[in-house]
Amino acid sequence: EKTSIIKKNKPSVFSFANFQALHQLYYDPNIENKNLAQKWLMQAQVSPQAWQFCWALLSPDKVPEIQYFGASALHTKISRYWGDIPTDQYESLKSQLFSQIACFSSGSKMVLTRLCVALASLALNTMPEAWPGAVAEMVRVFQEEGGGVDGRARCLALLELLTVLPEEFHTSRLPQYRKGQVRGALGREWGSVCPLLQQLLRRADSPGAVKARVLRCLSSWVMLDVPLNESESLVHDCFSALPDPELFDTAVEAIVNAISQPDSQRYVNTLLKLVPLVLALQEQLREAVQGGDMETCHGICRIVVTLGENHSRTLLEQVDHWQSFLALVNMIMFCTGIPGHYPVNETTSSLTLTFWYTLQDEIMSFESERQAVYLQVYRPVYFQLVDVLLHKAQFPSDQEYASWSSDEKEQFRIYRVDISDTLMYVYEMLGAELLSNLYEKLGRLLTNTEQPTSWQVSATQPHTEALLYGFQSIAETIDVNYSDVIPGLIGLIPRININNVQLADTVMFTIGALAEWLADHPVMLSSVLPLVLQALGNPDLSVSSVSTLKKICRECKYDLPPYASNIVAVSQEVLIKQIHKTSQCMWLMQALGFLLSALPVEEILRNLHSLITPYIQQLEKLADETPNPSNKLAIIHILGLLSNLFTTLDISKQDDESGEGSAPPVKTTPPPPGPNPVVVVLQQVFALIQTVLSQWLNDSQVVEAVCAIFEKSVKTLLHDFAPMVSQLSEMLGQMYSTIPQASALDLTRQMVHIFASQTDHFPPIKALFELVTSVTLSIFQQGPRDHPDIVDSFMQLQAQALKRKPDLFLSESLDVKAVFHCGILSLKFPEAPTVKSTCLFFTELLPHCSDVPPVARVVQEDGKVLIQALLEGIGGGVSRSLMDQFAEVLFSMNKNCFSLLTLWLKEALQPPGFPSMRLTPEQKENFSQQILSRERVNKRRVKDIVKEFTLVCRGLHGTEYAAEY
Ligand SMILES: *[C@@H]1O[C@H](CO)[C@@H](O)[C@H](O)[C@H]1NC(C)=O
Ligand SMILES: *[C@@H]1O[C@H](CO)[C@@H](O)[C@H](O)[C@H]1NC(C)=O
Ligand SMILES: *[C@@H]1O[C@H](CO)[C@@H](O)[C@H](O)[C@H]1NC(C)=O
Ligand SMILES: *[C@@H]1O[C@H](CO)[C@@H](O)[C@H](O)[C@H]1NC(C)=O
Repeated sequence: EKTSIIKKNKPSVFSFANFQALHQLYYDPNIENKNLAQKWLMQAQVSPQAWQFCWALLSPDKVPEIQYFGASALHTKISRYWGDIPTDQYESLKSQLFSQIACFSSGSKMVLTRLCVALASLALNTMPEAWPGAVAEMVRVFQEEGGGVDGRARCLALLELLTVLPEEFHTSRLPQYRKGQVRGALGREWGSVCPLLQQLLRRADSPGAVKARVLRCLSSWVMLDVPLNESESLVHDCFSALPDPELFDTAVEAIVNAISQPDSQRYVNTLLKLVPLVLALQEQLREAVQGGDMETCHGICRIVVTLGENHSRTLLEQVDHWQSFLALVNMIMFCTGIPGHYPVNETTSSLTLTFWYTLQDEIMSFESERQAVYLQVYRPVYFQLVDVLLHKAQFPSDQEYASWSSDEKEQFRIYRVDISDTLMYVYEMLGAELLSNLYEKLGRLLTNTEQPTSWQVSATQPHTEALLYGFQSIAETIDVNYSDVIPGLIGLIPRININNVQLADTVMFTIGALAEWLADHPVMLSSVLPLVLQALGNPDLSVSSVSTLKKICRECKYDLPPYASNIVAVSQEVLIKQIHKTSQCMWLMQALGFLLSALPVEEILRNLHSLITPYIQQLEKLADETPNPSNKLAIIHILGLLSNLFTTLDISKQDDESGEGSAPPVKTTPPPPGPNPVVVVLQQVFALIQTVLSQWLNDSQVVEAVCAIFEKSVKTLLHDFAPMVSQLSEMLGQMYSTIPQASALDLTRQMVHIFASQTDHFPPIKALFELVTSVTLSIFQQGPRDHPDIVDSFMQLQAQALKRKPDLFLSESLDVKAVFHCGILSLKFPEAPTVKSTCLFFTELLPHCSDVPPVARVVQEDGKVLIQALLEGIGGGVSRSLMDQFAEVLFSMNKNCFSLLTLWLKEALQPPGFPSMRLTPEQKENFSQQILSRERVNKRRVKDIVKEFTLVCRGLHGTEYAAEY
């Protein structure tokens, strides 16, 4: 019987009988019993008794699962409850663990690992003072003969222990200052580990399994920032291990970990010695490529890319070795261009893309003279890279592509986007010459009289689709204005024999990418527009053709009038034929909105008429039908088309691009003569929309779609919408009083925003405002909890009214007191957005104590209720994330009714336990004083005071949790 002081403690309440029962429970097929067992185990593990029973669980007569639990419990105790162990027991705990590890070195691997982790944790807690030379001692203990355990098992156990030690260090929760100490101590122990690993790796009689463990152990140690010069010879040994298939993976891992250490670039000589070793792998790489051995390709590529990516600066700077670095770069080029299609035939090439960015970045960061020298060497390399990348970006044959899974297609799509990004960076280095280069290649390809039989031919030169893809990648983000090849490129486009969907898509996207350029060179429009309009009729090209048309209409609208009727006709046709999905139909309407904006008013009207008449007729028919789910979708679709059209149809901006802003913008250009065409159309369809609404008033989606039409129109028309204000106000009022919906309130808010301060429009807006307010107040009387969205929109509307037109609160018919009390109720809502809007309402309300008598009256009479509600929220009633908004309201009270606030605050804080049981009277007094002190004029300070007070109220003051916020 071994004697451990820890083991001799009182007998455990967790008896062995319990564990037998537990074992049965654990293996019970009933999942609930298993969960129960798991929970019990977790509790047992942290209990004080765990120190006693875990040893018993490790006894040889237990099954491995129970032994594993014992070992885990030991690790938990040591790593988390280290403080429980008296200093004088460290030694016995340690020797106990050593002997358990020795026992299990020929037993269950899973238990062995846990025991090693437990001993590692002990070592980390005791080094360097209480256990100096911990690692040296581990090595010594396991190298001693004895214990009846054979040498190989002991050796493997030692390697396991040494491997988990650095890993445990990385996951341990040592305090920061200890981490530094322990890292230093571990670093010094490398002197004991290194010779052992070296000896084991070089011994001819070491079995492969042992060598693989040695390599894993090395991987683990280099992560501790072992200086690269001190692991150098072991890293060389790793290279010698690469030809051995059994060791390949672990050797790659160790090499990659060693050379990607943040510290490793300090060891220039060591790095330089690694370059020839890496270059020597080319033969193995070539063989792997030929043999289709993807794993080996991947591994070797990881090594070469890691060296290149982490050390390109260091290696570039060694000018005496420029040739060997260039050779390394060429090896990476080989990896980039590895044969076959990503991700089906190879997965390696994508690893290299970041390298090219890094290398270019380093070169461009040199001062200009040195940069010029490097560019001389590397520009040709990058031109070659462009060819390689475009070759890799090529689609496989249609037949092969069709056999790919959708996941593979998606990975390929992302891969092409990565290539596109890489080309964009490469453009920074190669500049306009890159575009000329692509253009020449394309020209050669397209003017070659010998037409290839298939659209992609298997040669090393990239093909049409890929070349255009490259072009588009660059043109999409970079201003190509100064490239003189664009006209030539556009001239080439019609020569492309478009016989494939991917090629057609890429042609479209290329045209789209050139939209801004076309705006500067409108004569070229006639060469590309026919292609776009033709593509519009092809459902396979839906996204590319519609988005390209939209870009062209947005950028080139002033040059499009000659083409307008044709564009409208084609669009109309594809809409009627229902070629596109809903979202593309919406984009198409936006495109038409842009297009029409640049036409003379009568032209706009004529086009609008032909464009929307079919929809109006359809809508008339739908309005007559009994509501059902399918006609609902059709109605929403038509309303959506109109909204999208009106979103971009803006005749006011013909010379003026400004107009966005928080205040209602004032038109700088005189309105064109005659009514705005959108208004004309809206007036024509108004009655119809009302009919639709009368059927669908209680369907929030239809109501939303109707409100969206007016919202978009008001947004683009601004004051041009004026003729419709009274009509729409009346309709909104009717809608809202029949069935209240949040979207009606939002539209009302927008009308208040734009029209409330205009004398002409004040009466209808005032009537609408009063009506929706009184309807909402009656909702509050019936219990508003079911409508947090309405309450939210209502509070925003009130805030907008106070901001834009406080006169609305002077009205006899507006019950300001009731609105105020609704605000008090809403402050207590659980929905954060609603509470936020309510705070905004009060923040806008309080400043009007001085100029709006009804507001002054209600604040005077009921302000104390507001203060109570605020304190309740701060005291813990609402989420901490809203404290800034609460502080804003307090700040506003302070500013606008200071003397009353002083009084109310005193009274409100009087009751014991309010707003939190945790507060002492001193803490409350302190808070009042701070809030009312001179600091009250500083909003940021008031926010801090509120934040601190809320922590005290919630019992979080000074906790880690508080700091995380
Ligand atoms: C590694 O480099 C350090 C300096 O960074 C030096 O002090 C140390 O002696 C070198 N070790 C070896 C084995 O060369
Ligand atoms: C080192 O190389 C690896 C592999 O290419 C990469 O993931 C890592 O980000 C690189 N580290 C640095 C600092 O460049
Ligand atoms: C890529 O893999 C596919 C399917 O395995 C095969 O048909 C094709 O020939 C391979 N291509 C290359 C270039 O290896
Ligand atoms: C692009 O070039 C055209 C014609 O050469 C010129 O009118 C236009 O201002 C240029 N645009 C930009 C953004 O430089």
